[in-house]
Amino acid sequence: MSANGKVIGLVGSPNREGRTNQLITAALGGAGRSGAPTELIQISDHVVTACKDCLPWVCKDNLACTYEDDAFEFLSQKILNCGALILGAPVYWWDISGLVKYLILKMFRVYAFSAPLQGLPALGIAIAGGTGNGLVSGLRPVYHFFQMMQMRAIEPLPATRFNFEDALKRAEKLGEEIGEKAQHRIPFKGLEDRLLWYDALPYLGLSRAGERRLLSDLIVKTLPPDAEPTFAFNLALADEMAAAGKPLDSLIETTHIYEAGVKAFKR
Ligand SMILES: Cc1cc2nc3c(=O)[nH]c(=O)nc-3n(C[C@H](O)[C@H](O)[C@H](O)COP(=O)(O)O)c2cc1C
Repeated sequence: MSANGKVIGLVGSPNREGRTNQLITAALGGAGRSGAPTELIQISDHVVTACKDCLPWVCKDNLACTYEDDAFEFLSQKILNCGALILGAPVYWWDISGLVKYLILKMFRVYAFSAPLQGLPALGIAIAGGTGNGLVSGLRPVYHFFQMMQMRAIEPLPATRFNFEDALKRAEKLGEEIGEKAQHRIPFKGLEDRLLWYDALPYLGLSRAGERRLLSDLIVKTLPPDAEPTFAFNLALADEMAAAGKPLDSLIETTHIYEAGVKAFKR
């Protein structure tokens, strides 16, 4: 496969001009600044049909879905021939959209075995644009895809409507980083090397309570300091409870901060 250095950004939302698009556009802007050619692709223009799990499993040898699927053919060829991949998913019920999931599952079925994407630089973005819940759990299927396909992903971007302005700036920065890497694929030495690489990435290993704490923390950080001076103090209190072996009390306190933070954010 030729790595032409082009960075492609896949928008995994049916909402063409929504937040996923804005984040991907920002990331591609950063990649463009690093000198890489870029292309934005709306997955909603190429809706992959569900894998039929047909047997015998010939698609792994033919390297094509046995059933006619122009959308999959188009997207998979774009991914196989790019220099770096940015995949943006909207968070739906703490998970990702079907648009992204159908693509991922068919990519596994056809290509996981032959692994043609070894070392491909990749960046995943998940946007939890409602409650903010799922900002990390929405990243996991995307990074599981990168990991299973043996890509070399950089740190993910968990985005919410609360930290959206900061997330756009971060997308640009991470896009620049991925653009700089787009000329070279650096395959892993082996499975262990790859697993440790993914274990070292931030956010993905957070517990559910940890995810809630991250969400509360970033809401508090986006509020003006005079919005509610007790927020930061209460968050420290929640941490103390956790350290004292009271995880339920800690999580309840964190949720209070989250709920009050959302109210303050709306004012
Ligand atoms: C079916 C559905 C489920 C959703 N679930 C969540 C959720 O679990 N957490 C959240 O923060 N937002 C949730 N949202 C809101 C979306 O994440 C939000 O609209 C986001 O901006 C979508 O990206 P887009 O603007 O690119 O379409 C949900 C939206 C839909 C349509």
